[in-house]
Formats: sequence, structure tokens, C-alpha cells
Amino acid sequence: MKITVIGTGYVGLVSGACLAEVGNDVLCLDVDPAKIKTLKEGGIPIFEPGLQEMVRRNVDAGRLHFSTDVEAAAHFGTIMFIAVGTPPGEDGSADMKYVTAAARNIGRYMTDYKVIVDKSTVPVGTADIVKAALNEELEKRGVKTPFSVVSNPEFLKEGAAIEDFMKPDRIIVGCDDDQAVLYMRALYAPFQRNHDRLIVMDIRSAELTKYAANAMLATRISFMNELANLAEKLGADIESVRKGIGSDPRIGYDFLYAGAGYGGSCFPKDVKALIKTAADDAGIELKVLTAVEAANDAQKHVLGTKIKARFGADLKGKHFALWGLAFKANTDDMREATSREVIMDLLAAGATLTAYDPVAMAEARHCFPGEPRLSYADSQTAALANADALVIVTEWKEFRSPDFATLKATLKSPVIFDGRNMYDPRLVRDMGFEYLAIGR
Ligand SMILES: NC(=O)c1ccc[n+]([C@@H]2O[C@H](COP(=O)([O-])OP(=O)(O)OC[C@H]3O[C@@H](n4cnc5c(N)ncnc54)[C@H](O)[C@@H]3O)[C@@H](O)[C@H]2O)c1
Repeated sequence: MKITVIGTGYVGLVSGACLAEVGNDVLCLDVDPAKIKTLKEGGIPIFEPGLQEMVRRNVDAGRLHFSTDVEAAAHFGTIMFIAVGTPPGEDGSADMKYVTAAARNIGRYMTDYKVIVDKSTVPVGTADIVKAALNEELEKRGVKTPFSVVSNPEFLKEGAAIEDFMKPDRIIVGCDDDQAVLYMRALYAPFQRNHDRLIVMDIRSAELTKYAANAMLATRISFMNELANLAEKLGADIESVRKGIGSDPRIGYDFLYAGAGYGGSCFPKDVKALIKTAADDAGIELKVLTAVEAANDAQKHVLGTKIKARFGADLKGKHFALWGLAFKANTDDMREATSREVIMDLLAAGATLTAYDPVAMAEARHCFPGEPRLSYADSQTAALANADALVIVTEWKEFRSPDFATLKATLKSPVIFDGRNMYDPRLVRDMGFEYLAIGR
């Protein structure tokens, strides 16, 4: 099949590469010329395990192309994925300007039947907006070209994006026309040879499914974080509690980890957007999600609060080593990362910091340009030099089993603030560390 992917970010590039991997002919379009230049030169603009090799393999095979040419992209695919960003607007609702711009660009140039697939996370009703934008552009040109609009939200996780796309748990297809469903079935057949994972539903339900999934996951995290704060006060260990409740199959073990708050490009903005949609479009206050958001906003300051409780509210003259900047392991994404709040809390209190992250330090330099009190180290050990304590913010694998003897010898005082509950508290305390984790 010939496929155009509009928007070559985390979702668009992974989708484009995976669709090419199974034999399709894919053109990835982006409005950012620097991104397209990097891709054409054989690089990739983001960190995602396995992606660089997959992109290169499919470019070499002549199945994957990159372009900034809107007209060529509109002619190229029969299936047109819209995978542009939907960042939060000032009022918290999803900003739809990139989605409508992408739809208009298709309408401006298309000359034959297209299946237009909303892959971006978009509020309920967006398919209607996309249809209207296309119809308007076609009318301006005085042409009547048929098209279908499908909602096909993406569930990939950064850091495991290729695996998720190649072996999806489910493929949600929201559609009200049979021809487009046939296209989607054919498109996704190579990704579900073992058994059918395609769930067809009406468009609005598909659009809501994506928000519901992220809202549920965010709820589990905030729930555990609140219980962790309670466990600390009551002298219980949230990790034991997690195992205790996870063993109930109705609850399950996944996504029950207490930590320093969720971040990333999806949960925070999707929770916000769903609250806003409910209020504006339905007059309903989503009380549970409002609490989930408030709990998470507070949780991002738990590390800062613990550090100030231990070292004093005035941190002038104190220096901290920070392990992890990305919002989670295996990505360089720092959108809404907890590290940002931790850094800002510590800087505001007068501290200096040295950070280390395996892949996100370039991104951090963009987030904190020219900040004189934040420096970067080449390794996790180098970050410890002259530090009063270690602060762990991201659960990278390489932090799981550090050389504790070196750690203790290098830190000025043997104090670890662990925002991801990486270690056994008894073990590290027996080694002489003061260990301040979450809910333990
Ligand atoms: N990142 C994730 O893990 C993830 C997972 C599932 C769903 N989503 C959703 O997918 C969508 C994309 O997310 P992302 O993380 O890939 O965003 P991103 O910011 O990494 O990428 C979006 C890309 O779209 C490009 N773009 C904007 N307008 C364009 C236009 N008119 N034409 C062509 N390109 C255009 C931007 O330049 C950018 O490169 C969002 O709605 C997001 O909520 C993201």
C-alpha cells in the first residue's frame, strides 16, 4: 500500500518505519525542515531503541521516504495518517491547529480517494472537524473527491514503541464506512497474524477510548502515589502493599508503582484535555480525574520537599547529583518530566546540580539553556563528585545496581533520594546510606 504519514515525531516516525518494515511504500512528511534533513542524512531526530536501524533498513530498501513537500505528500498515499502533535492549549484543551492544518493540506491537493486516519490523540468530535476542513478545501477547488475519515488512536509507549507497534495489544478503528474498514484490516493484517486484534467501533467511541486508556493509567499512578505518601506516615512499605494488592487478578501488578509523579507528552496533557472536554462539551465535572491531576502535580514536588526537609529550606552551598532527566527510561523525551520540577525546586532553593542521563542531556540543555547552576556529567559516577546527596529521578536500567561502595565514597554524605524506588531499603541502609524513597 502507499501510505503518507503526516508528522514525523515519536508516533509518526515509528508508525512510518513499522509500516514500511512490513512492505508498504511510506512517505513521512514534516513541516520541520531540520527533522527531515536529519532523516535524509541517515540520522534520526529522537532516541527510540531500534528505530535508527529500522529506518535505515527501509530507506535502503526504497520503501521509506521523507519530505517537506505538502503537495507531493498529499498525492502519495491512499492511506493518509495524521500523526501531528496535539499539545495542550492555554486552557488545557488539546490544541487542534496542527491537526486541522494537516487536514486542510490534504484537501488542498488530493485528486483521488483517500482514507484519512487520525492517529494523533484527539478530542471526541475531531473526525467531524477533519471532515469539515477537507470538504471546505475541496469546495474551494470546486471538486468532489471522495474520502473516508477513520479514528485509529495510537497506544505505543516511548522506549518500547517498535515492539508495541509491531505487536499491538489492540488496534482500535473508529469508522462509519465499510470501505475504509477494509483498508484498515488489510493495512494491519501483517501486525496481527496470530489472532485478530482489530476492534471496530464508531468514531466517537474510538476517540474517547484513547483518553480513557491514558486516564485509567494515570489514575492508577496517582492512586499509588497517594497511598505511598500515606504509607510513609503510617510506617508501611508501599512496595509490599503493591505486591499484596497486585496479586488480585482484578487489580494486577502492572502500572502500580509509586514514584515521583508521571510526566511525558501524553498522560498530563490527555488528562487535562479530557477534564476540559467533559466540562466544556458535556457540562460534566470529572471529579476523579481532577483529583488524579492535582495529586500528580503535588507528587512532582515530593523529592524537592524531602530534600529540603533533610538539608534545610535554604540550599545555598549544597550540591546534588541527579540521575535521570527523561520522563521515563529508554527515551530522551523530557516533556512534562518530573526532573524539570525537581531541578526548578532545587535551583529555587539555591542549590547547584550536576545531572546525568544516558540520552536526554541534549534535551535538558534545551530546557534549561545557559543555567549556570546546572551542569552535566559524562557518567553516573562522574555526576557524584562533590555532591551532598544523590537524587534519582528516572528508572534507567543502569541505575538499578550501582557500585554502592564508590557511591558512598564519592558523596559528601551518604544520602540517596530515590524517586523511583530502585533499591531494597534494608540493603542500602545496611550499607550505611540514608535512603529516602517514596512510600517506604
Ligand atoms: N509520544 C507518544 O508516546 C504518543 C503515544 C501515543 C499517542 N501520541 C499522540 O500522537 C500525537 C503525536 O505525538 P508525538 O509525540 O509523535 O509528537 P511530536 O511532537 O514528537 O511530533 C509531531 C510532529 O508533527 C509535525 N507537524 C506539526 N504540524 C504538521 C503539519 N501540518 N504537517 C506535517 N507535520 C507537522 C511536527 O513538526 C512534529 O515533528 C499526539 O497527539 C500524541 O498525543 C503520542
